[in-house]
Amino acid sequence: MSTLEKVSERIKNSLFVPIDNNNNMQDSINSNDVSGQVPTLFANVPLGPVDPILGVSTAFKADTDPRKVDTSVGAYRDENGKPYVLKCVYEAEKRLLGAPKEYLPIDGIPEFNKLSAKLLYGDAMNGKEKRMVTVQALSGTGALRIGIIFIRKYLPAGTVVYISRPSWTNHHNICKESGIQSAEYAYYDPKTKGLDFTGMINDMKAAPNGSVFVLHLCAHNPTGVDPTHEQWNVIADVMREKNHIPFMDCAYQGYASGDLDYDAYSARLFLNRGFEMFSAQSYSKNFGLYGERTGALTIVSHREDVIPKMLSQLKMDIRAMYSSPPTHGARLVTTVLSDPELTALWVKELKEMSGRIKDVRQKVLDALIARKVPGNWEHIVNQIGMFTYTGLTKPQVDILVNKYHIYLLGSGRVSLAGLNNKNIDYFADAVLDAVTSTQ
Ligand code: LMR
Repeated sequence: MSTLEKVSERIKNSLFVPIDNNNNMQDSINSNDVSGQVPTLFANVPLGPVDPILGVSTAFKADTDPRKVDTSVGAYRDENGKPYVLKCVYEAEKRLLGAPKEYLPIDGIPEFNKLSAKLLYGDAMNGKEKRMVTVQALSGTGALRIGIIFIRKYLPAGTVVYISRPSWTNHHNICKESGIQSAEYAYYDPKTKGLDFTGMINDMKAAPNGSVFVLHLCAHNPTGVDPTHEQWNVIADVMREKNHIPFMDCAYQGYASGDLDYDAYSARLFLNRGFEMFSAQSYSKNFGLYGERTGALTIVSHREDVIPKMLSQLKMDIRAMYSSPPTHGARLVTTVLSDPELTALWVKELKEMSGRIKDVRQKVLDALIARKVPGNWEHIVNQIGMFTYTGLTKPQVDILVNKYHIYLLGSGRVSLAGLNNKNIDYFADAVLDAVTSTQ
């Protein structure tokens, strides 16, 4: 008997067993089942691992200790440790009250798509929009997913997607679940806690021509280590020589430096240098639209005539996956970006949020120095964006979590948004204990 036949036999048996008032159904249907449990089709489903980021955040929520601190997930918190609704978003939300809930087009709101591409590529667009296609997506993850599926289907068979070592853990999941081969390129040097630029360039040179490289636009997650503009220029040279394809993951535009144009340097460089390329934009962090799942995928081609065909295929994939994207977040972004006053307010708020994080970096460094915590902690202020890759080891992380109820990732990544004037000293005391007690 094949497995399928065995399973259907078991279901048939269980369906036709008379109900037993003594609740002995299990025994009567299960004579072959040594486990003595009610049969199910799903007995062989393995337990998956807890997500290394969202799982930590869930553990934080379940912790009832009043001292607990959440530095796990990359979500902005204000000085009081509270989630923050941007004022520009609040204003846009008021204007949208009662907006119709009709289906959007499969590829999303046309104006939103235009504004998204313009926000990222700015003046580098310069007439290139005719050979670009943008679709609204379920935030950065959704945009990456649609883009990676497109790569699997339409780029030469065997195209490998290169991901930085380390990277946002979901990059690996997305490639695996999209059925495409992924590999890693050197990025972070644990000795300097900075960029392994030589290793990165060597890996780009060694990769097969025409490989896809997932590059973080700015505020690299998890390390907070970005190439300088000069280094980006060299990266572009090497990618050009090798015909590699940039896939920009743009989750923090405006959030790293507080300047939307400065943060977009790498994407604009690649566009100016004539690359065919992909970009996945997320509005989760810079607009605080986490749960609204708002983002965009843009693909740049060398030719205008292929764009309608590319769009048709993207739409077929989207239709089959989730039909059409959600309305609310994209309407909020469109409202803000098409109103100069709201845009100015957004830019101001971006500066405030990124400014607070920079301030926290300095205060954490000062607190660690004041306590003479062994080691050099300067990297905390040299890194950029929402995270610091502390260099804390797993046993040290375990002390922070289990003894102090400070939740951070197993890799030592700390989301600085979770720290503020009320808990920085507590955090620094905990780090001092963790570092000294594991020496
Ligand atoms: C993070 O890295 O913490 C965020 O991007 C949230 C996520 O989805 O992982």
